Amino acid sequence: MLTLIKTILLGRPQGFRSRARAKLFGGNRSTTSEPTPAPTPKRASQPVEAAEKSLALKMEPPRDVTPPDGYEVVLHKNALEAGKIIEIIIGGTAIAVANVGGTYHAISNTCAHADGPLGEGSLDGHIVSCPYHGWQFDVRDGKCKTNAYASVPTYPVQIVGNAVCVKL
Ligand code: FES
Repeated sequence: MLTLIKTILLGRPQGFRSRARAKLFGGNRSTTSEPTPAPTPKRASQPVEAAEKSLALKMEPPRDVTPPDGYEVVLHKNALEAGKIIEIIIGGTAIAVANVGGTYHAISNTCAHADGPLGEGSLDGHIVSCPYHGWQFDVRDGKCKTNAYASVPTYPVQIVGNAVCVKL
């Protein structure tokens, strides 16, 4: 009923009166003064976001594990591919955890040269290269291959179930 009255008073949406109003007032005026919102662009990245979310869920450290005395659970065992290194903040300390062929190693994340983030470096075998200036460190003992006088601290690692546990 309301639509019929509106049509009688204002005319059909594509009718003469609507076109005349559009010419007088410009543009395609709607009955409200709100501007027409721009169409929402299609998000091509939705599958990528879903994949990232599932990866993030996979990255969650296991909560059902009791770590050995002095150790903390830092990572799910399957969250870090072999040949990769990652930065993890634990108890306010930044460490770098490396997966070398299924064996995990933990070292300080802070490069001995100028504090570069070793967890963002590249891992080649047991050697991590700092992303800043390329100094190289052995993740097994923290010794620097570039400068014989430099090294970074290492931390003991234990695997409990699916959890990578590190003692700081
Ligand atoms: S900060 Fe790591 S090599 Fe310079």
